[in-house]
Amino acid sequence: MRDQETVEVRELVRPAELTGADAATFRAAAGVGIRARRHQWGDDDHTESLPEQYARAADTAAEQWRGWIAVDGAGGVLGLLTATLPLRENPAVAWVDVVVDPGRQRRGVGSSLMAVAERDLRTAGRTVLTGWTETAGTEPWPDAVPARSGAGAVPAGAPEVAFARRHGYVLEQVERLGRLDVPVAPATLQAWYAALPEHPDHELIAWSDVAPADTAADYAQLKTAMSTDVPSADLEQDEEDWDAGRVADEEAELAAGGGHRLVTAVRHVPTGRLVGHTVLERFDARPAVAYQQDTLVLSAHRGHRLGMLLKIDNLRRLATAWPEVRRVYTWNAEENTPVLAINVELGFRQAGVVGAWQKRLC
Ligand SMILES: CC(C)(COP(=O)(O)OP(=O)(O)OC[C@H]1O[C@@H](n2cnc3c(N)ncnc32)[C@H](O)[C@@H]1OP(=O)(O)O)[C@@H](O)C(=O)NCCC(=O)NCCS
Repeated sequence: MRDQETVEVRELVRPAELTGADAATFRAAAGVGIRARRHQWGDDDHTESLPEQYARAADTAAEQWRGWIAVDGAGGVLGLLTATLPLRENPAVAWVDVVVDPGRQRRGVGSSLMAVAERDLRTAGRTVLTGWTETAGTEPWPDAVPARSGAGAVPAGAPEVAFARRHGYVLEQVERLGRLDVPVAPATLQAWYAALPEHPDHELIAWSDVAPADTAADYAQLKTAMSTDVPSADLEQDEEDWDAGRVADEEAELAAGGGHRLVTAVRHVPTGRLVGHTVLERFDARPAVAYQQDTLVLSAHRGHRLGMLLKIDNLRRLATAWPEVRRVYTWNAEENTPVLAINVELGFRQAGVVGAWQKRLC
């Protein structure tokens, strides 16, 4: 039997500010997350910095945050489990994430955290737990564990995969993690634009960080559509209830964590309504890295290569707005073939795999 750590698991409180003695435990817990992700990837491209973790831990009208830490006899924080509880929809769901200090893994710390968090979440009425594992590398995987969706697999031997299976989580869906080196050469951008059809009824509009007041309601509708139009396999996912206030809260959280956003949207000129959008984000802690987030075209406007137009135009903006960015990451469900096809066309190559796991507590 492997050595087991004797730990106490307690709830982590988000301090009122990040400086001072009150924040020491939160900072120590965030440090575990930083070291664990760095160890997993060998770089900081997927490491959430302290300000990002602190911003994410703030409650909003739409989400409650909870955290648990595992502490050893000397008071050192060995592991952290966080849960986000959606408040406006998905009343039985909690999104969970667990990290253990690289030097103290495989000694039962993650399991101790999971036992207490599951008990407390069940008490709070959250009986559907969803979590995501990230594994570096490319297919084919040795000992592939297939997703219940029927598309994609993750490697059984990866610690995070073994841990999730050991705790009774079911692999519902697999996403491909793609990476694109940027900036895209101007000649390549030009060739992409030239290959697109004309769009006489559509025009692009763009903003950074905060949606202009006259777009906020339409943007909220696109966010609502995003919650159901992206394939989610058998993961429990209600339609999300977005409005201008929720958009503003999310923008404030991004800014508090040192985040920035480039949004390009497409307006249907005859109706004046926004019918699609795409989002790139970057964080002060990782100036060379950007993340391709949402891309959506409303169903009535699909089939005209508007998704490709949106992505190309935002990549063009990225080169001037954020010249220090060298790589862009994106995640797409393996069954989302239209979006994967666009990303392959743009030059994204697989960098890893994300497993979406779900466990129903009895
Ligand atoms: C996944 C993680 C949290 C596991 O924490 P941990 O404290 O090392 O896990 P435990 O010691 O409680 O392991 C419990 C069981 O999981 C499985 N497991 C965990 N790590 C494993 C590994 N490296 N290889 C194979 N199986 C492993 C085993 O079945 C283990 O039981 P056993 O030791 O009796 O065989 C840790 O590896 C980690 O922080 N990884 C990076 C972050 C991450 O990917 N988190 C998951 C996203 S939600």
